Amino acid sequence: MTGQPKGFHLGASYYPEHWPQERWERDLGAMSDLGFTTVRMLEFAWSRLEPGPGEYRFDWVDRAADLCESFGLSMMLGTPTAAPPVWLISAYPDILPVGPDGLRRQPGGRRHYCLHHEHYRAAARGVVEQLANHLAGRTDIVAWQVDNEVGAYRSTFCYCDQCEAAFRRWLEARYHDVAALNERWGTVFWSQEVRGWDEVQIPRPAMNGWTGSNKAALLDFWRFSSDALADFVGDQADALREWFPQVPVTTNWTSLTTAAFDRAAMAKRIDFTSWDNYELDLYGASFNHDVVRGAKLGPQPTWTPEQRCAPPDNRQHVPLLRDGDVTTMTLHNIACGSDATIYFRLEQALFGAENAHGGILDRTGGTDTRIYRELMSSVPRLRQIGDAVAGSQVRARAAIVYDTTAGVAITSPLPHLVKKRSQLLGHIEHLVRPYHRALQSLGVDVDVIPCDRDLAHYDVVILAGQVIASGDLATSVREYVAGGGCLVATPFTAQVDDNDNLVAAAVPAGLTDVFGLSVTDQDFLADGETVVLARPVGAGEAPVPDLQGVLCCELLRLAGAEVTFEYRNRWYAGTPAIASHSYGRGTAVYVGTALDHVAARSLLTEVLAERDVEWHDLPPDVHLRRRFGPGSGPSEGTEYVFVVNGGEVEQTVTLAGRYRDLVSGEERDGVIGVQARDAVVLCRAGPR
Ligand code: GAL
Ligand code: ZN
Repeated sequence: MTGQPKGFHLGASYYPEHWPQERWERDLGAMSDLGFTTVRMLEFAWSRLEPGPGEYRFDWVDRAADLCESFGLSMMLGTPTAAPPVWLISAYPDILPVGPDGLRRQPGGRRHYCLHHEHYRAAARGVVEQLANHLAGRTDIVAWQVDNEVGAYRSTFCYCDQCEAAFRRWLEARYHDVAALNERWGTVFWSQEVRGWDEVQIPRPAMNGWTGSNKAALLDFWRFSSDALADFVGDQADALREWFPQVPVTTNWTSLTTAAFDRAAMAKRIDFTSWDNYELDLYGASFNHDVVRGAKLGPQPTWTPEQRCAPPDNRQHVPLLRDGDVTTMTLHNIACGSDATIYFRLEQALFGAENAHGGILDRTGGTDTRIYRELMSSVPRLRQIGDAVAGSQVRARAAIVYDTTAGVAITSPLPHLVKKRSQLLGHIEHLVRPYHRALQSLGVDVDVIPCDRDLAHYDVVILAGQVIASGDLATSVREYVAGGGCLVATPFTAQVDDNDNLVAAAVPAGLTDVFGLSVTDQDFLADGETVVLARPVGAGEAPVPDLQGVLCCELLRLAGAEVTFEYRNRWYAGTPAIASHSYGRGTAVYVGTALDHVAARSLLTEVLAERDVEWHDLPPDVHLRRRFGPGSGPSEGTEYVFVVNGGEVEQTVTLAGRYRDLVSGEERDGVIGVQARDAVVLCRAGPR
């Protein structure tokens, strides 16, 4: 692999193919006047790169690239495969994917392709290779982006015959013979046994979605589709590396909840991870940054190839950005480990599906806009900070283990097949995000990681909805707690095997001795219903106020664990809700209900205090994040502290120790004030 991207980048997405060439100079000039470093281009330009089969036109790309170079702007180039051109679809209409309803999706938008269509794959690889071959030797390409927002609009899943054939091959490679498939899928239930691979079907909505479908089949179809997407991205990345062995490859992901696939698996096929930031608040942005950074093993910067900077399309009901928001969001990206922020987009398109989406420039290409003025004044500071911290790392002491496949096993990402009470979104919202937000509001940096990562260096690990009881995870969790770690687990922990079959053992399967308890029942709350948690009667002074749970309540049978909270209402009032158990040198806390972020925060303050992890009582919308050198700071181990205020009023945060303001050079200690919609970045040298 090529390695990590280098340096700090600020820039905008630009579509030269949308404008007469006379305008390019003015547009790129505006970017260079702003002090941008990088232009992002080409990700939808297939019909101009290849106007007909095998007819490649790269002369305009050369002119645009040369012009970028003359302005000192480097390039992040996208492969154009998210927008298959009309000629390709006309030649092979069955490139269009088929939905779960059996109907073929129509062209007219984007991402309208089946991942298993041989001619689509060949055409995609062809245009990527030709483009890369043509541009080979250029030294001003700082990163390649494969496709655009893979998996968005449920494009991970296609239900066509080609996909069915590929699914059968995938299953054959996994299970070898149909007897094993029948056994692992439990097909004897409802007479679903198959006699040969050709009888296996993609799980489609049965009886108008009113009856449950085979869960093992659903989970495998999800895995198969996720694998295919990773392979599609990896295949392009491999092609690009042949021509550009030194240029790192990424693909721009959307927010975690808007596209279903295994990010960590895809991350193995690319050099660095990145995501498009359209989040409405900094808590949402932090969460996605921590997921995207955690998806790739090892310290590495991430990028933000698209950053909302203008009013988005008016279909989306998104509020106008306030003055200072773009600067603050950019500083927050940097704080979370992102070494590039590329704004979406430079100009507002006059035509096409998104002509209601604003840009940095106005619709005449003029610079008299609020956002241009804001960037004009903030880019020097953004670059000063970005250049100083680029390459430094987030070193979180807390981790949330969140595995997408387990999320799928709890719920179903396939809209027509509601398998259990909550959707995938509900799982993330109720079992993962509250803990993340709680840690953010305490100023504790956190990695959101898949379940195969080493846990030893974390002080606190939260197992969030890890319903799949994998032997490897049980071993690593056990060792982690035995070695002195603090583990907090949510409802649904370790209940099923890899095929979503119940494990025939007490749950959390394989971990009841670690938690000192087992789960005997699960109750589900209606939307809006809550359960009150309180200290057990007679527990003395309660340092933590009553908490609230939502979504579900598990009834716990204790075997060594101590109750820390009990249910206070519902018919099982007085029974344990949260219990803590010493195991080896560590502690395992089992939380039987889904906490909201206020409750999770209360619980975590106790846990963190025990672990001696520093936390802050941050005001709402204030974020405290750290990165650690080398960077280009004075010495190894330089600590960079970001105090980011996304709120409407000035706030203060009290820090221990002496820092230097990275921008002004002033010495600072004690109380740090930070304006509304702004950030302060401090540093201090020395070992951690
Ligand atoms: C992104 C997408 C862009 C553009 C933008 C509009 O998700 O990658 O191409 O559509 O949304 O907000
Ligand atoms: Zn298909």
